[in-house]
Parts: sequence; C-alpha cells; structure tokens
Amino acid sequence: MTPEKTHGFATRAIHDGQEPDPLTGAVTVPIYPTSTYVQQAIGENKGYEYSRVTNPTRTRLEQNLASLEGGVAARVFASGMAAIHAVVCMLKAGDHVVCGNDLYGGTPRLFNQVMTDFGLEFSYIDTAETENVERAIRKNTRMVYVETPTNPMMRLSDLAAIGAICRRKKLALVVDNTFMSPYFQQPLALGADLVVHSTTKFLNGHSDGLGGVVVCARQEHADKLAFLQKSSGGILSPFECWLVLRGVKTLAARMEIHDRSGRIVADYLWKHDKVKAVFYPGLAEHPQHALAKRQMSGFGSMISFDTGSLKNANKMLKKVRVCSLGESLGGVETLISHPATMTHGGIGEKARRAIGIGDGLVRLSVGIEDVDDIVEDLDQALKAI
Ligand SMILES: Cc1ncc(COP(=O)(O)O)c(C=O)c1O
Repeated sequence: MTPEKTHGFATRAIHDGQEPDPLTGAVTVPIYPTSTYVQQAIGENKGYEYSRVTNPTRTRLEQNLASLEGGVAARVFASGMAAIHAVVCMLKAGDHVVCGNDLYGGTPRLFNQVMTDFGLEFSYIDTAETENVERAIRKNTRMVYVETPTNPMMRLSDLAAIGAICRRKKLALVVDNTFMSPYFQQPLALGADLVVHSTTKFLNGHSDGLGGVVVCARQEHADKLAFLQKSSGGILSPFECWLVLRGVKTLAARMEIHDRSGRIVADYLWKHDKVKAVFYPGLAEHPQHALAKRQMSGFGSMISFDTGSLKNANKMLKKVRVCSLGESLGGVETLISHPATMTHGGIGEKARRAIGIGDGLVRLSVGIEDVDDIVEDLDQALKAI
C-alpha cells in the first residue's frame, strides 16, 4: 500500500519516498552509488543521466522531505550551508535580503563575507518584532530570511504575520526550521515560500552525516534549485541521503522524547539558583510563550542558559559527563556548547553582545538518553560554579 498525503506525520516519515524497492521488494531504499546511467539510445533513458543532476536515492529523500514539510518539492545539498547558499544564489546582484539578527553564525558569515562580494545586500533586524520587517523593506528587497526559534537566544518570529507582509510585498519568505523540524513547526503552512534545514541535525538525528535541504512551496523555486544543483554541484551523496532516510523514519518518536526531556531540563535549570536566565519557549516565563504555543506543536529540546561568566561556563563544561561538549545539535546524544566561542565565535564580540550572547551563555541540545541522567549530570557539573 502506498501511503497518501493524508496519512499522519509518522506514517509519512516512514513511507513517503520510502516505498519498497520495485525490483527486489527491499523495505529500505537502495543506495545507488553510481555516477552515470546506461542510456537506451540518444535521448532515451530511464529518467536518470548523471548523478550530479539526479540520483534515485536522492530523489527518494527529496520526496520524503517535501512530504514532511508539505512542499511541492525538496532539493538536498551537501550541508545546511550549501542549501542556504543555493537559496541566495536564486537572487541577483543588487538584490537585498532582510534577515533576522540572531541567526546561526555561519549564515551571516556566508552572507557578509562571501555573497556581498557578488553584489547582494543584507540587513539584520530583530524579526521578533514584526513591524521591524516592514520597516526594513527597500525597493530592491527580494527576500526575508528568518530562523525561529533563533540560535541560540530562542527568540521567535511570527511566521503568519511576516508571511502576510511578504505576500503583500511579493517577497519570498525563507525559514530555517532546523531547531523545530517539520514535526513541531510547518512554516509553509504558515505562509513561508521556502524552508531550509541543516539535515545534519534532527532530520538525520544520529550525528553521522552533514546535509541540507530546501523545501519549496512553489514549483518555480524547485526548478531553479534543481538547476543550481546541476550547475554548482553541491549535492548530497547517495550514502548520506540514505542516512537521512534512515534517521527520518524515527523523527516523530525522537522528537516526542526530545520535547518531553527538553521541558524537564528547562524546568530544572529555571529553578537552579546558580543559573541566571533560561531561554526556552516552553517555559511560561518565555516572553513569546503564547506565540510558541500557537505556531509550534511542541517546544523541542534546544535550551540556552546563562551561567553568569566565561569562568563559570568553563568550570561547568569541564565537568559534564553524559552531556558531550561539542558543536551541533539534534542528535540522540545530549550536546552542550558555548556559543560565544563556538557557533558564534565568528560574528565578532559587538554583534554577539548586541543579540544577548554573553560569555556565560551555554546552549544545550537535549538528547534522548534517560532524562534523569541528563539532569543529574547537569546538577553535578553546576556544583563546580
Ligand atoms: C540553525 C542552523 N542552520 C544551518 C546550519 C548549517 O548547517 P550545516 O552545519 O549542516 O552546514 C546550522 C548548523 O549548526 C544551524 O544550526
């Protein structure tokens, strides 16, 4: 039986694009590690000519991710950054992009240190205040680019409201949905035109491969991105496509645990006397908790908290045992990191401080280990402060 679009999320994650192999009945999608395909005659082939252009394992992953985000098509790339690069390559010199001011550090690095050399213009605003978006739009603005919740300050942008502005002004709204995954947030349904993910994170879920995807609401964007895959070649390899296909089968189950444990850990940190502040949209005290409940169906497992100083952060990070000190997020294991020196080290101190990333800020990606072990580990590490 081939599941229809009307099936539930977990069913689609397991079956859409992941139909049994027609040749053998294998229940997992085969990995096609081929560069080329034998053709029957000039202009006659089985739909595949060369793997930079299309590959059957990649096609299956693209079908799967398009279904999960509710898009018409998806295009996968070698990393999240390669996917974001492809999105801005749809623009041309002289075009302007309005961006959130609290994005993953690699995104403004690409925009400011690479793409401006090609004539693109970017401005950065706090998209948590919707009216800032309208104010930042210029004659040459073509795109609005947001992350919600943001990395690492966990600020939210109202996607339905920003989507309405973009429709009125005929701008493309791009949403990086890496933190929530399509399980908890569906930006296309809220009015976005393009959704990007670092599949390296929750979609893969096992910290064993890099990848990126762009999911499109409109076929014209999907066609342009397919052309960019063919032209610049930053595509995801068949093996890594297969790893994401395998990971995504358990996305719904994993996200449920991530969310449950995220709430418990955030609550624990909130009550801890050594912790100065906790940034987690699931806390009733989060200033945008009401928006989080409206726009997301869960709160996920990304939490940032303030230990007060670099010295304190360092003391605690040296002591963690269950939590692993490292960059990245969204894996089954709990990862803990220090944004000021790791993910956001490259944006400069002034920009960092302006968005509230202090020296004592620590970011957690709560994994799916037993939550009591995670809390106990944080408890013993915080004693070092
Ligand atoms: C929110 C977000 N977007 C994009 C990226 C870039 O993805 P990748 O590391 O797969 O290139 C990251 C990486 O940490 C991220 O956290």
